Amino acid sequence: MENKPIKEITVSGIRPTGKVHLGNYLGAIKNFVTMQDEFETCYYFIADYHSLTTHNNADLLPVNVRRSLATYLACGLDPEKAIVYLQSDLPQIPELYLLLNMFAHKGELEKCTTFKEKIRTPGQTVNAGLLTYPVLMAADIIIHKATKVPVGKDQQQHLEMTRTFANRFNHLTNSDFFPEPQGFSYGNSLIKILSLDGKGGKMSKSDENENNAIYLTDSDKEITKKIKKAKTDTGPTEKNSPLTPGIEALFGIMDCVSNPEIVADYKEQYANCTIKYGYLKLQLAEDLVKYIAPIRETIFEIENNQEYLKSVVEKGGEKARESATKTVDGVRKLLGINYF
Ligand code: TRP
Repeated sequence: MENKPIKEITVSGIRPTGKVHLGNYLGAIKNFVTMQDEFETCYYFIADYHSLTTHNNADLLPVNVRRSLATYLACGLDPEKAIVYLQSDLPQIPELYLLLNMFAHKGELEKCTTFKEKIRTPGQTVNAGLLTYPVLMAADIIIHKATKVPVGKDQQQHLEMTRTFANRFNHLTNSDFFPEPQGFSYGNSLIKILSLDGKGGKMSKSDENENNAIYLTDSDKEITKKIKKAKTDTGPTEKNSPLTPGIEALFGIMDCVSNPEIVADYKEQYANCTIKYGYLKLQLAEDLVKYIAPIRETIFEIENNQEYLKSVVEKGGEKARESATKTVDGVRKLLGINYF
């Protein structure tokens, strides 16, 4: 882990829903892979406790955790360069979470946008874990005194809350124990991978219709079918028309997976109204299959190697616990949990 130019600590996690789509990969995981070569200390974990706030299927959880972990590794996270672990392997996280709960105000938790959205979901019980989701996420981050957190726009409010809790802790304990974690993104993480429904929204794993997203585990046939079925329009009739959302989604993916000259050629055809969407879709499907197939095969291969997965998280867990223990020891002392 030596000789990395950026001397900072970074932490990020994904919830183990078992499904990672192209947007998650291009917008997040790919950046984690770049960061592991540049940031001195990188912690990447599977947020399995967080997934319990909304899903509680004990049969599916192990399958999803193993798949998410295999996905991290198949995408190029290297346990030699980054510390890869499971949230539930660090008992220090629930401890810090409990202590941080004393620094989180009920009102600010209730105002959190993701909380308000989640409790609107029909059938969703409003459990306390859902309300304190941001406190658990804050514990994940400050347990390693992280300074940079690569997360998307949808997580910025959680990050802001993390700063609030960390600052409040510092203030009330008269210390500067926790640094302020900041969001981090490379210029390219602004790439937005759109849903294939042609409505202009982001590709999302909570979309009811699985045809609107391309998953890293989709078969060649599924990928081809989804691209063929992607919603477009009847085609441009005026020169240099702006892209409609459906075709914007296709070009957005193409920009990431196809030869730039070919993409430029199709864009020109769009601009001069000679484009045939059928051909563009064929090209895109072919390139996308080539792009995803090796990742998919690696996911399946690693996922079946439980010994390997176990050894990765054992090693990662050990290192992560080292840093977590130091932090919790410091927090206990500052709070006066230090009696004899
Ligand atoms: N809330 C994040 C999400 O839904 C996952 C997450 C949990 C996370 N803890 C984190 C991300 C800590 C970054 C840092 O995507």
